[in-house]
This record gives sequence, structure tokens and C-alpha cells, in this order.
Amino acid sequence: MARLAPATRVADIPPLFDKTRTRSRDLVAPLSPEDTMLQSMEDASPAKWHLAHTTWFFEEFILKPHAPDYRSPDERFAFLFNSYYVQAGPRHARDKRGLVSRPGLQAVVEYRAHVDDAMARLLEGGDPEVAELTELGCHHEMQHQELLVTDLLHGLSFNPLLPAYRDPQPMPVTDEVPLTFAAHDGGLQEIGHAGEGFAYDCEGPRHRTFLHPFRMADRPVTNRDWIAFMEDGGYGHQPLWLMDGWATCQREGWDAPLYWWQQDDQWWTYTLRGPQPVNLDAPVVHVSYYEADAFARWAGARLPTEAEWEVFHADRPVEGNFLDDGPLRPLPGGGPWGDVWEWTQSPFTPYPGFRPPEGAIGEYNGKFMVNQFVLRGGSCATPRAQMRPTYRTFFYPHHRWQMLGLRIAKDA
Ligand code: AVJ
Ligand code: FE
Repeated sequence: MARLAPATRVADIPPLFDKTRTRSRDLVAPLSPEDTMLQSMEDASPAKWHLAHTTWFFEEFILKPHAPDYRSPDERFAFLFNSYYVQAGPRHARDKRGLVSRPGLQAVVEYRAHVDDAMARLLEGGDPEVAELTELGCHHEMQHQELLVTDLLHGLSFNPLLPAYRDPQPMPVTDEVPLTFAAHDGGLQEIGHAGEGFAYDCEGPRHRTFLHPFRMADRPVTNRDWIAFMEDGGYGHQPLWLMDGWATCQREGWDAPLYWWQQDDQWWTYTLRGPQPVNLDAPVVHVSYYEADAFARWAGARLPTEAEWEVFHADRPVEGNFLDDGPLRPLPGGGPWGDVWEWTQSPFTPYPGFRPPEGAIGEYNGKFMVNQFVLRGGSCATPRAQMRPTYRTFFYPHHRWQMLGLRIAKDA
């Protein structure tokens, strides 16, 4: 799946591996062992589990088949740290990951060091197939770095003291950016990955698709925009909502984005840098597909399709606020990329000609191609190295705990 493009040399892989493994360790450095066990819901996993699961991925898919002398420090880790690969064997219940106190954090750190050593030795052989799989393992670990911090935010949000993961930092003050739209003629266009650089299997094949003329907002929806929707009664006005969205909104009692509350006539929000007043010009974050769709209808617009999003962004440089940059929450002045993932109206389904690879690794994306929606653009929790115009992430329409926002589009 991860075809090493000519631009990526086998020699680039060991430094990528080191950098990726080191960043995961850095992300947990501010955490106590207790913090790393938190699991607040089935969708979110403990930080310790993320550290171990990403390690198991290298063990299962690279070391076991390619390093005949490799021995796991504990064969039972495969049961604990296999996430969802049915073809890789039985596994622990997803909703019970937070109840696993042993192995402790120190033992998981040692598991990582054991696998790092074995991987370093294997990579010295320069085998292109190993390099290709290692590149996939690194991108997999980068996806888990994003999950690690967003899962942590969710877990810590249940602590009434609302602890800050990293030091609180004041938000930059900026001017309001008016919402403008850029026109696109549409027509017969191509989207999808074409073979230069890393991509997941689901990003290809590159294929033609027909687009009607459209207009795309040149910035994401901001908190200021969202509060206007709230003050206009958007959360309580049924005609704006899809049936499943309205039912979910009623059942869950949603009346603002996740992590928002009102205090002294002001909206506040909980972030990885602790509680903060809502910054009006930062992109709105922690909204579901259902809310994004209702907002777009209220605004006289709609969500873009993923093809519109990709065509619109293909020539725009990947500049934005990503995990590497450090703010860990959306900042005002957001541009075409970064800060928040943007919901599209496109279901996560296979492109024409898609075929997942054989075996357990084929379960990576393909089996999730039902009932989820594609998001584009990357967030303040996404490693920058993952960003490219073709990248598709996907979540269920009720999900809110990731860095999920939106950009609106219109028919021309
Ligand atoms: C693409 C973010 C939905 O969370 O399961 C992690 C990423 N895939 N390990 C997920 C992923 C395999 C995936 N998302
Ligand atoms: Fe995974």
C-alpha cells in the first residue's frame, strides 16, 4: 500500500522512524503514569495504549515477517495491543483498554525500546519492502499522535479541576476576517493520489470526477460565526437539521460545541492548554457532522464535497497550524490548511478501482468504508508530515472529540 515513491529514498526511512518514535515519547513527557491510563469512552484510548499499539504495529507487520530472530518481550502483548485487525488474531475489548494497569508505563516504555532496537538493526539491511512498511508504520504512529492528544483532552475534561496538558498561553489577538468565497468552474477534474510520496491505500486510485461550478469559503467557520448561529436559535430550530442529527442533538442535549460553557456572560472552552475564553476569530472546533450540516443550512450554504475540497486546495501551499507548531488548539486567522479538520458531505467510500492489500494490513482503511464521512485539511493536532491534498480522514457523523470543524461551500 505504501509504495515508496522515487522521491522517498530507503535512506530517508531510519530518520523518519527516529523522529516519529521520539515525538510520541515527547507527547507523553508531561503526563503521569496515572494520566496515561485514562479512558473516558470507547472511542478514546489511553495514552499508554497508543504508545504500545503503535509499537505492536511494527512488531506484527514488520519484525515478525522480516526479522526471523526477533522475539517479543511478551507474546501476550499482541492480544492487548492489537486494535482491530481480525486477521492478526484475537484482541482485548476496545472499551476496556483503560482497565489495563499492567504492563505499567515503564514496561511499555521498555517494549518500545526493545522494538526500536530491533527495527534499527533491521533497517540497516536496506530492504525496500521493509522501508515501505516502516514508512506506513510511521504514518500510522503519526495518526495515533493526533489521537493521543485528542483522547487525552477528552479524558482530562472529566476532571473538575480542568488541568492544562501544556502551559496555558494567551491567544493571539487578530482582526475579524470577513467570509469571502472563491469561485471554481468545476468540470471534469482529477482527484486522488497518483504515486508521488506517501499515501494511504484509500487515497487512490487517482480518477476523474465531474464537478458542477461551485464557490468555496476561503476560511473555516469561526467561533464568531458559530455564536451567531447559536444566538439565532440554531440548536433549537428543527427545520435546519437532518433527522438523525436532530434526534442526536435532542438526546445528547447539545446547545454548543463540545467543551463549551457560559460564565459571566462569556463563552469559555476547555483546551489542551486549560480553560480559555472562546476566541471569536479562531475556527470553531469540536462540532459533529450533524451540527456542521445544520450550520451550513442556516448560513444558506452547504458542506463541500471532498472532490471540491481537493480541487480547491490542490495548488494551495500546506501552511497552517499543525501539531509540530505547538499551540494545540485552533488559532485565529486560519487559512486553507490546519487548525481544524473540515467535514465534507462525502461518505468515506472506495474510489473507482480501489482494492485494499491482501491480508491483515488490508483492514487498515477499507473495512471502515461505511457510515462515516470524509474530513480534509488537518488540524492543530495533526503532524505536518501527513498533510497532502489527497489525505482523507473519516469519522462518524456524531463524533465531536477530534479537532473537527468546517468550511462552507455554495453552488455557483
Ligand atoms: C483515520 C483517524 C479514523 O482513528 O482509527 C489508526 C486512524 N488507523 N490506526 C482511526 C488509524 C489505524 C483512524 N482514523
Ligand atoms: Fe492504529
